Amino acid sequence: MEQEMQKKVMLSGIQPSGDLHLGNYLGAIKNWGARAEEFDCYYFMADMHTITVRQNPADLRRRTLEQLATYIACGLDPEKNTLFIQSHIPAHAELGWVLNCYTMFGELSRMTQFKDKSAKHADNINGGLFTYPALMAADILLYQPDYVPVGNDQKQHVELTRNVAQRFNNIYGDVFKIPEPYIPKTGARIMSLNDPSSKMSKSIPDGCVFLMEKPEDIQRKFKRAITDSDTERCVRFDPENKPGVSNLMSIYAAVTGKTMEEIEAEFDGQGYGAFKPAVGEAVIECLRPIREEAQRLLADKAYLESVYRAGAEKASYVANKTLRKVYKKVGFVAR
Ligand code: TRP
Repeated sequence: MEQEMQKKVMLSGIQPSGDLHLGNYLGAIKNWGARAEEFDCYYFMADMHTITVRQNPADLRRRTLEQLATYIACGLDPEKNTLFIQSHIPAHAELGWVLNCYTMFGELSRMTQFKDKSAKHADNINGGLFTYPALMAADILLYQPDYVPVGNDQKQHVELTRNVAQRFNNIYGDVFKIPEPYIPKTGARIMSLNDPSSKMSKSIPDGCVFLMEKPEDIQRKFKRAITDSDTERCVRFDPENKPGVSNLMSIYAAVTGKTMEEIEAEFDGQGYGAFKPAVGEAVIECLRPIREEAQRLLADKAYLESVYRAGAEKASYVANKTLRKVYKKVGFVAR
């Protein structure tokens, strides 16, 4: 307990709006398990954020649980990390409302994610899509974290969170800790298998390997992976001139732990025809235990329920403490 008190707090949210893929795993999730030694970690399924764009209810429910099961299968130990579902903690919506009143229209208008998403969903530019960053600020500030690990696309939202927290603190005193974005040092940047110039993403499904995908489908995607049109046709790490092969090498290195030199030596004198299925095979073997464990956990609804309930209990305790302080500061009568 004594040590627990000294650990820095880390929090991140993930929207259960798409199936997890190899890029998510090798770039991020794989390294999360080890973090719990150093930090007090909170990870939540940001289900409230997903409904800013239309969701199929059954899919949202399935994905939320699937994501939880997959995180655990990837090594996030629920005994060492607080894993919870956002909508289980009413304090997120409650603080979200308060922070809406301390976030400026102009600030929200400048958010690039809002501009992108309103262009993409022009028929559904709803209020929630616009005020989403105020809810995200609430998600973060409720837990007084030191660090918020996010990808580049979310840095602007963390920046806004800091500004809103600062604004609130300037009026009411030190209520919120000002969090820092945390850009992890480890993690491979994995590109699409059929377009090595864009990040692996669910929006290009043919170039994307999903964690729960069947081995034969994974192998098919690797066999069809784009290699480069250079003449030497050998396995050599050269991201500039051979982005396709280099991406496959990064994947192979990440799943086997081999260095680029070792990989070049292993496939010396062989063409891409031998290399591509070898990468596919290595990925299949890396993902097999994760998929099997996730499926086992998904079949054990009682266990998953015990995890998200315990997570919600711990999270609400922390969140409500902050919320009570905020309510008092702004002048609400205590119940
Ligand atoms: N907006 C984030 C995304 O789209 C998800 C998210 C919601 C989040 N609340 C958060 C991330 C709080 C970090 C902290 O990826």
